[in-house]
Amino acid sequence: MVKLVALTTLLMLLLLSWWRFEGAVGDPQTLLLKQDCSGFIAPDLSNFNQNLNASFADLRSQVSNQSKHFATAQATNGTNPVYAMFQCRNYLSITHCATCLATAAAQIRNCSAGANGARVIYDGCFLRYESNDFFDQIMPRNSILCGNQTAEDSTDFTAAGKQVLMDLLIATPKISGFYAATKTQVSGGGIYAIAQCAESLAQDTCSECLSVEHSSIQGCLSHTNGRAFDAGCFTRYSESPFFADNQTIDITPFLNQGGSSSKKWVIIGVVVGGAVLLVILLLLFPLYRRSRSPKRAPRGIILEATELKAPTKYKYSDLKAATKNFSEKNKLGEGGFGTVYKGTLKNGKVVAVKKLITGKSSKIDDDFESEVTLISNVHHKNLVRLLGCCSKGKDRILVYEYMANNSLDKILFGTKKGTLSWKQRYDIILGIARGLTYLHEEFHVSIIHRDIKTGNILLDDEFQPKISDFGLIRLLPGDQSHLSTKFAGTMGYTAPEYALHGQLSEKADTYSFGIVVLEIISGQKSTDVNIVEDDSDDEYLLRRAWKLYERGMHLELVDKSLDPNTYDTEEMKRIIDTALLCTQASTATRPAMSEVVVLLSSNEFVEHMRPSMPIFVESKLRPHRDIFAAIGSSESNATVSNSIVPA
Ligand SMILES: *[C@@H]1O[C@H](CO)[C@@H](O)[C@H](O)[C@H]1NC(C)=O
Ligand SMILES: *[C@@H]1O[C@H](CO)[C@@H](O)[C@H](O)[C@H]1NC(C)=O
Ligand SMILES: *[C@@H]1O[C@H](CO)[C@@H](O)[C@H](O)[C@H]1NC(C)=O
Ligand SMILES: *[C@@H]1O[C@H](CO)[C@@H](O)[C@H](O)[C@H]1NC(C)=O
Ligand SMILES: *[C@@H]1O[C@H](CO)[C@@H](O)[C@H](O)[C@H]1NC(C)=O
Ligand SMILES: *[C@@H]1O[C@H](CO)[C@@H](O)[C@H](O)[C@H]1NC(C)=O
Repeated sequence: MVKLVALTTLLMLLLLSWWRFEGAVGDPQTLLLKQDCSGFIAPDLSNFNQNLNASFADLRSQVSNQSKHFATAQATNGTNPVYAMFQCRNYLSITHCATCLATAAAQIRNCSAGANGARVIYDGCFLRYESNDFFDQIMPRNSILCGNQTAEDSTDFTAAGKQVLMDLLIATPKISGFYAATKTQVSGGGIYAIAQCAESLAQDTCSECLSVEHSSIQGCLSHTNGRAFDAGCFTRYSESPFFADNQTIDITPFLNQGGSSSKKWVIIGVVVGGAVLLVILLLLFPLYRRSRSPKRAPRGIILEATELKAPTKYKYSDLKAATKNFSEKNKLGEGGFGTVYKGTLKNGKVVAVKKLITGKSSKIDDDFESEVTLISNVHHKNLVRLLGCCSKGKDRILVYEYMANNSLDKILFGTKKGTLSWKQRYDIILGIARGLTYLHEEFHVSIIHRDIKTGNILLDDEFQPKISDFGLIRLLPGDQSHLSTKFAGTMGYTAPEYALHGQLSEKADTYSFGIVVLEIISGQKSTDVNIVEDDSDDEYLLRRAWKLYERGMHLELVDKSLDPNTYDTEEMKRIIDTALLCTQASTATRPAMSEVVVLLSSNEFVEHMRPSMPIFVESKLRPHRDIFAAIGSSESNATVSNSIVPA
């Protein structure tokens, strides 16, 4: 008997904990989904804590006394202001809302004392504070949590789920309060779903935030529940009710309402485009589709300064001394962004000092610090570290770690031509792919390099590659406002859709990466013509690689200075195929860099990975400025097809 009671209790507890996990109706739903803490500590702790407590007290009072589901507060007395935001899901009662706030406020203090920014996200609510006003911003960092049970009738469920999520995406930003909750009947049950944005966002920003979540939560749809969350919005669906049936909102009036229908089509376009892209990727890489969840960082969102550490400021006089007054002798090279000098700091540390070309306009001043802050927070072993900066008068100087072995082009095509072994070349290829993956997919904001070429790949003393010059495009002088000032590309490396139409996406870097891989394998420069006796055509690298591929003669491309006994021919073919996948005409079919890493490092050859033909722009147009001159001319009409590049 005692045993039975114990067993029943145990069962009930198990059930209860399951319910808690799911977050039942009539519950403050305090399952912690995510916590982020800024690594930056407020300078004046006591002033900061006062402001933090004051803003939290303000939030509590707005929730409890004014029955608000959304509140912002700011306490700006002194030098350490605090801006705070709280939101609970509208289906929660005010009592539960207040409980969720109390839980969140306690949990958020679990960040290290004085952390000047933090966020906690629960099923039931969300609390965030920063030292700057972030109320109209979103974070480009959406996460998902999928349930661990597969839906019973999974095709029906997935189809219905897709529809519901799409409807919520369209309707929610149009509903005042940016909140919607729906229940949809499916065979054997229902789908409960909500979407919500912070009320202080602009309508467009809410749409943007939800559309990113929308594309990632789709990955959960074969499971009975899923959530996508972000510091600005929230999407959740579940087979089990997490709000009452009478708490739904009729969203049909917002689905086919006129007015912003063009925007709706844009959203649908982007989403359908994204779905097509996803389907293609899934078809291409069936082996890996389970291993990665789709995530996408929208560009152009200002990241909170509190997330990032400030860069080191160097004294101009120190840098001048380190480079012997920027002497010719110390000059390492000259690039699109300025001249690079070797410098030895007072403490003996050797650095690379890049003096940027600055324009007449002062616009650079506004952006310089924030851009440098962003770039100097990029830490990856395959990316050159930006150590700090210096500005004096019109001069803007960046200080980088120094790379002993210079750039890849010097070794591939210079006097040391032919000295790199296959193992070294392979490691360089993989390292570049990893560095780009970090820039595109793993850093806080997605950074598109735009100018990947062998000249921008530096090698350390162990010949490990490090990508340089990323993020600098935004530091170019803005004194000419037309497109070409923002165009950073190099003939022979630039993706056709970017060169010809200015359409920029991460896939432009994928293309340039493919070209670099072909150069590394062949030892031939992308722009050099290889005269082949029995063929009178211009044999630029990409065209030559494609022709050889078509004839199944891949290995002809390989640098003759490589000993054929030092490489595996199947591996070599696979890498050439991967490079050609990267240079396909359609951006949609080019793999993302994270997929490239998988393709490069996997031993299993994916048989139906067939690259389609690239576009050959090089024989008609030469220097890259000319390519730009071709925009709008008849020549540009016929070239790029099938690009799905969200504007
Ligand atoms: C702020 O609130 C916390 C927790 O309620 C308390 O421990 C701390 O002493 C308060 N700090 C100030 C400066 O009021
Ligand atoms: C909110 O209510 C609490 C207790 O009910 C009270 O102490 C506090 O003064 C109220 N705050 C405001 C702003 O009305
Ligand atoms: C601001 O804070 C100081 C102490 O840091 C306090 O003396 C002063 O009264 C505060 N002012 C306001 C408006 O709260
Ligand atoms: C912070 O909270 C998490 C989750 O509740 C917990 O695992 C962790 O130990 C806490 N850290 C500190 C420093 O209290
Ligand atoms: C699903 O996840 C819950 C909560 O983490 C866990 O208790 C349960 O055992 C899991 N079920 C399965 C089938 O893995
Ligand atoms: C919704 O239904 C619950 C019972 O399930 C009831 O207590 C509540 O009053 C209803 N709310 C509304 C707004 O009808």
